Amino acid sequence: KIPVIIDCDPGHDDAVMIMLAFGSGLFDVKAITTSAGNQTQSKTLKNALKIVTLIGAKVDVYKGCEKPLFRNLIIADHVHGEMGMDGPILPEPNKISEKLSAVEAIAKILEESEEKITIVPTGPLTNIATFLLAYPHLKHKIERISLMGGGIFRGNITPKAEFNIYVDPEAASIVFNSGVPITMCGLDVTHKALVFQEDIELFRNIGNQSGKVVAELMDFFSIFYRQELPELEGGAALHDPCSIACLIAPSIFKSKPCYVDVELQGKLTTGTTVVDFYNVLKKEPNAEVVYDIDREQYIQLLYDAIKVLP
Ligand code: BDR
Ligand code: CA
Repeated sequence: KIPVIIDCDPGHDDAVMIMLAFGSGLFDVKAITTSAGNQTQSKTLKNALKIVTLIGAKVDVYKGCEKPLFRNLIIADHVHGEMGMDGPILPEPNKISEKLSAVEAIAKILEESEEKITIVPTGPLTNIATFLLAYPHLKHKIERISLMGGGIFRGNITPKAEFNIYVDPEAASIVFNSGVPITMCGLDVTHKALVFQEDIELFRNIGNQSGKVVAELMDFFSIFYRQELPELEGGAALHDPCSIACLIAPSIFKSKPCYVDVELQGKLTTGTTVVDFYNVLKKEPNAEVVYDIDREQYIQLLYDAIKVLP
């Protein structure tokens, strides 16, 4: 099994990402840490605990940073609603978060681990950057950071910037410049990772609780995409599970090693990932940038994982 730490801000698509990680049976999830992003820290933490309770996952959940390194928090309630994961009615969590902070937990787990660990962030990168700043001597224990964020050719919170990077661009810059191997699933791939109404019905018809919750999450999540992005023809961009799916089935994705940095002081482009896709700068690539996906195989992967959950 691949040892991973999941750092997320559930978040409809974060929730499905967690379900894919556990349902696939391929990961040893050492911890879930929560970031402030789609909603405030207290709400994303509660949502993570609810999903863990729903699927009966045996994993500790740790509370992360309350706000970005230098900026005020921006939330995505226009996509994810008042509670950050609106739609399904979920059971109250049967556990609370651990005493250690997310950053302390990441350090402890890496320190004690004999094998390198992959980190999978699907929210703003505040916790991961804080960890890298506070514990630079543990960096070598990270196998890879497989993240959802950024984009080569597009943005979603501004014309150029993607939400997770835009919320804490300084944190993203620290991560991209850390020297740790990075896989970046940005909007170029995630806007092809579409879920349509017929896929939602497939999940609903599995007949288990998790399938029902995924369908109800997607019912809510799709409203934004149908209203705001009609060019996706009714599809909703299921971003975050890509960062786990590309560890499970790299062959269903297309990617390219590129040099990536983050714009921190643009007049129009703050928080943009500047991806040297055509290798203009001739710099050493620091990220494997994912840009395409076999959508049907992605849905199949999700289906197979959700089917085996409670
Ligand atoms: C990202 O932003 C969040 O709203 C989603 O959960 C995803 O991680 C997409 O830009
Ligand atoms: Ca997210």
